[in-house]
Amino acid sequence: MDDRLLDAAVSSLGRDVSYESLEDWPWRRGRGLPAAHRAAMEAEGQVTRQRHRWIPRRSDRTAPAVSPARRHAAERWTPVRRRGPAPNKDAGTSTGFVQNARRDCRALRDERSLMPRSMRALVAGKVGEPTDVLRLESRPVPTPEAGQALIRVKATPIHASDLHVLRGRYGFSPDFPTVGGHMECMGRVEALGPDTEGPKIGERVVVAAVPAVPGPHVAGTWQEYLVADTRRLLPVPDHLSDSTACQLAVNPLTALLLVTRELDVQPGEWLLQTAAGSTVGRLVIQLSRHLGIRTINVVRRRGAVEEIKAFGGDEVICTEDEDLLQRVAETAGPAGVRKAVDCVSGPVGAQVSQALAPGGEVVVYGALSTHRQTDPAALTIPLQARSVIYETKAVRGFWLNRWFGTVSPEDALGALSQVRSLVAEEVLSIPQGQPFPLERFAEAVSLAETPAHDAKPLFVFKDGQDS
Ligand SMILES: NC(=O)c1ccc[n+]([C@@H]2O[C@H](COP(=O)([O-])OP(=O)(O)OC[C@H]3O[C@@H](n4cnc5c(N)ncnc54)[C@H](OP(=O)(O)O)[C@@H]3O)[C@@H](O)[C@H]2O)c1
Repeated sequence: MDDRLLDAAVSSLGRDVSYESLEDWPWRRGRGLPAAHRAAMEAEGQVTRQRHRWIPRRSDRTAPAVSPARRHAAERWTPVRRRGPAPNKDAGTSTGFVQNARRDCRALRDERSLMPRSMRALVAGKVGEPTDVLRLESRPVPTPEAGQALIRVKATPIHASDLHVLRGRYGFSPDFPTVGGHMECMGRVEALGPDTEGPKIGERVVVAAVPAVPGPHVAGTWQEYLVADTRRLLPVPDHLSDSTACQLAVNPLTALLLVTRELDVQPGEWLLQTAAGSTVGRLVIQLSRHLGIRTINVVRRRGAVEEIKAFGGDEVICTEDEDLLQRVAETAGPAGVRKAVDCVSGPVGAQVSQALAPGGEVVVYGALSTHRQTDPAALTIPLQARSVIYETKAVRGFWLNRWFGTVSPEDALGALSQVRSLVAEEVLSIPQGQPFPLERFAEAVSLAETPAHDAKPLFVFKDGQDS
């Protein structure tokens, strides 16, 4: 697009031009011309120029077939005083040309001069243990294409599934080398691609960077700048902290979809869930309380029991020293519960399926007990065939990537807006993350998988508006 603009400028002037240090042109340096300026220039058939960078060739000074107005516009470089309030009122005249050129150049210089050409990114060269394969690299700042925005990243979490992706054990595999972080981040819109509508430049947004399956490549978030589809951007109000905003698109959305669209749990019904102390688990508890749903919460440590009760869980079962089936029967009645969500799998997931009432269903959305396991037997959910058949129980999966692959972008943004409202109204509160600079990635990665870790690790960057 940039070269085409230059070509258009050349032909609109009816002359050949040589331009020195093209790399130094603002839009080159800034990787992409802001849509508003581009639209204005294209509408007028004009293009911005800078006196000392774009030099008409000597032989062209006598070039024929150039109208006097165009020649005047092309060769007049003296400052022009703007007279009227509307900068384009003289469009089509030499004065308008120069006024617009100067205005656009100023705007571009202002917007672009602070943007670096390169940035830091945390890149995995191949599949492997994250701390072994991740390297801090310098990469060029990417250029947004049509329909994309350039985002300056401010904060991005490290989810267990991000580490699963790097180990080659997740539901999709990116092409390696890959920038890590395939879930979400928050930042500010730095530029828009050609002819692109979207949030305003400088706006604070959440990027839902979960790759749709099936779907196109999505840039990793563990880098200072990334390009993202504008339909995956959700503006967020300033009063939401960076920590909250950067965790808004994955876990809260998962909790909302599980409780409402997937299981349609009704007020007064029991909902059984595992890993209740996880971020998703806590969000499920909060949402359930808001909707009048009662929760039975499974944790693996005695120390987490009081915490979950204090958090609002109606019942808490500790698998360290309690029988899950017996406790569910005592709580929900001998028939069992009709609805459950599980992110542990393995033997715990199997017990959850046994605790279901006839016709009940469990949605499996995670497999925490299989993490770092290599024994094939540890990667299963051993179901009792008779119970599944004769009690017509359903065990099915949920995966956000596939959900993004099946719903329309508008539907996805609608659900994300619902999450934003629930968070803004303080129905859902996302636990505060622990910030890490990119350089300390080994520490951050290790914290992400430490048992009983209180806070989710987040990579944080300055966004240019920090003091
Ligand atoms: N399918 C999807 O689309 C989707 C979307 C979002 C999240 N998820 C999944 O949801 C799960 C929770 O994610 P999160 O980000 O909320 O996690 P998180 O905040 O990092 O918390 C992890 C929790 O899991 C518990 N845990 C870890 N290993 C366990 C095991 N073997 N048995 C029982 N509990 C265990 C931990 O208990 P302690 O406190 O005792 O350490 C901790 O409470 C993950 O499996 C994630 O992949 C899936």
